[in-house]
Amino acid sequence: MTGEKNLEALLAAMHPVKRDGEYVYTLWPEGRPLVPGIEAAVREAEGLTVVLPRAVADKEGLAYDFVGAWITLQVHSALDAVGLTAAVSKALADARISCNMLAGFHHDHLLVPVLDAPRAMEALAELSAHNRQVPRPELLLRSEASEDRDAILALTADAFAVSPATGLPAEGEPLEVKVLGALFESKEYLPDFSIVAVLDSEVVGHVISTRGWVGGHELLGLGPLGVTPRLQRHGIGSALIKETIRRANAAGESGIALLGSPGYYSRFGFVPATSLGVLPPDEAWGDYFQLLPLALWPGGVRGTFRYAEPFALI
Ligand SMILES: CC(C)(COP(=O)(O)OP(=O)(O)OC[C@H]1O[C@@H](n2cnc3c(N)ncnc32)[C@H](O)[C@@H]1OP(=O)(O)O)[C@@H](O)C(=O)NCCC(=O)NCCS
Repeated sequence: MTGEKNLEALLAAMHPVKRDGEYVYTLWPEGRPLVPGIEAAVREAEGLTVVLPRAVADKEGLAYDFVGAWITLQVHSALDAVGLTAAVSKALADARISCNMLAGFHHDHLLVPVLDAPRAMEALAELSAHNRQVPRPELLLRSEASEDRDAILALTADAFAVSPATGLPAEGEPLEVKVLGALFESKEYLPDFSIVAVLDSEVVGHVISTRGWVGGHELLGLGPLGVTPRLQRHGIGSALIKETIRRANAAGESGIALLGSPGYYSRFGFVPATSLGVLPPDEAWGDYFQLLPLALWPGGVRGTFRYAEPFALI
């Protein structure tokens, strides 16, 4: 997975999130076995520095001075990205807030004095908002072409490298890549509903909807939908869904079904499918199985949704 290097894009997307609780820096006693709860460690000639929850330090009887709040910048930055740390420290220094920065493989993390955390979050939000105003290259949405396939599968692998269902890293190739590859070859494939988002000639997002049914009634089954991790939260996923809805209405489709987070899809009008009499293929999906009734939704459609065949792989 490659991280973002463009500074303005990183700042625009950095999305700071504060963890619960308080964290301290302390020196770990030489020779004592490490305990669970250590969040970061740096080995130096003088000893091992660890960052851990204050409660754990107290339980271990360790001394500390600095008590910090932990803020994670949720953007996926490349380890060799230039300027993010400097821009963030400058914004905090201008607000007279001291900060310690830690870089993980995926994200950057800040520890700021607990009492300054609300002001730090404000300063970071302002810095991010300022960079969102910088004009960006235009996003192009178009049907996929056969030469896009490799890029689509690669971005889908990146997008689902961490499973949205479990929050855990996928083992090997994500299942969504296999399903998508099979959907491309399936009889339920609909060329107008495999849509790519292109930015500066790079395929940065993709959504596919394939034929599905409730009894004999035809619907669309949407998914997988993926956006290149470094460009998530820029509206690309939303643009792909809205384009799918626009095309579906224009094609006289009556509804779109999908499995996904209600927190995300409800903003486009999706509702729990059961509220419309359509049941998920797997009862356990509950309200995560959603449906968007389109202008031509007939009502009276009742039964269990059947996806295109490749979804049997899931
Ligand atoms: C989910 C995904 C397609 C959204 O695309 P995106 O371009 O990042 O999203 P957008 O910029 O259009 O929308 C961002 C908003 O959606 C919200 N959002 C994103 N994923 C969400 C989720 N799983 N649940 C709830 N909200 C979510 C964000 O919090 C943000 O909300 P805000 O605007 O209120 O801050 C993208 O994040 C992705 O590829 N994720 C990994 C793969 C995946 O989960 N695919 C969908 C499986 S159903």
